[in-house]
Amino acid sequence: MSELSLEKIKETAAFIKDIIGETPEFAIVLGSGLGALKNEVQAIHTLDYSEIPNFPQTTVVGHGGKLIFGTLEGKKVLMMSGRFHYYEGHSMDTVTFPFRVFHLLGIKNLIVSNASGGVNKNFRVADIMIIKDHINMMPEHPLRGKNLDEFGPRFVDMSEPYNLKMIETAEKVAAEQGIQVHKGVYVALQGPTFETPAEYGMIQAIGGDAVGMSTVPEIIVAKHQGMDCFGISIITDMGGPEIAFTVSHEDVLQAANKAMPNVIKIVKGLVKNYS
Ligand code: HPA
Repeated sequence: MSELSLEKIKETAAFIKDIIGETPEFAIVLGSGLGALKNEVQAIHTLDYSEIPNFPQTTVVGHGGKLIFGTLEGKKVLMMSGRFHYYEGHSMDTVTFPFRVFHLLGIKNLIVSNASGGVNKNFRVADIMIIKDHINMMPEHPLRGKNLDEFGPRFVDMSEPYNLKMIETAEKVAAEQGIQVHKGVYVALQGPTFETPAEYGMIQAIGGDAVGMSTVPEIIVAKHQGMDCFGISIITDMGGPEIAFTVSHEDVLQAANKAMPNVIKIVKGLVKNYS
């Protein structure tokens, strides 16, 4: 992280702070699988990424590009509709830039959603997995380089990457609403190819339950800053070493849409009941 980037983070945070005027309780990343949550927020300010100084721009079909500040379940939230992926060619500093800004805005809690490929044989397409842990297999670490001491320590404790109280709260919400959820380990690869059969086998062998191309850099940066994190994943396709599974971006979006209403119920319940 260069000094120039630090200046940019501060400039962007000051711009957003000026507009929203208060500290949101949660930052929420609407990945594939949570997009429709933006229809449930009572928006107070909606900013296109293009109008925010220094904010990166999205490139993927199916991911918008808006920062929405508003009220959800009576709590103030800041939503990112559209995230930045490493496979798009962004540097890790760019992928995680918004999360640095969230810290300067004083946000303490982060909720992230994504779509992933399931490798756990008990999973089915359109199942929901609460992320209990992750394995970072991205080729570049978001904290590599000079440490930003004002954000967090050089060496970061990762013993509880996903907040146990948030997980418990979400599980309770799911149980109360009769929604079946799994808990599992999310493995992050850089993409943009989906995995080969042998690669799915590797994910299983190293202890992964699902694999995807996002989330982990964001969680690492959020943990660096001491945020409490929650991740939820929709299993949009299944993979394994024995059978040749085919998968397309359309399959992913279709399965994500199927599970989305239940993911939204869980996230709304979490926002309502966690503080
Ligand atoms: N791999 C496999 N399947 C997926 C992925 C992935 O990264 N993302 C969504 N479905």
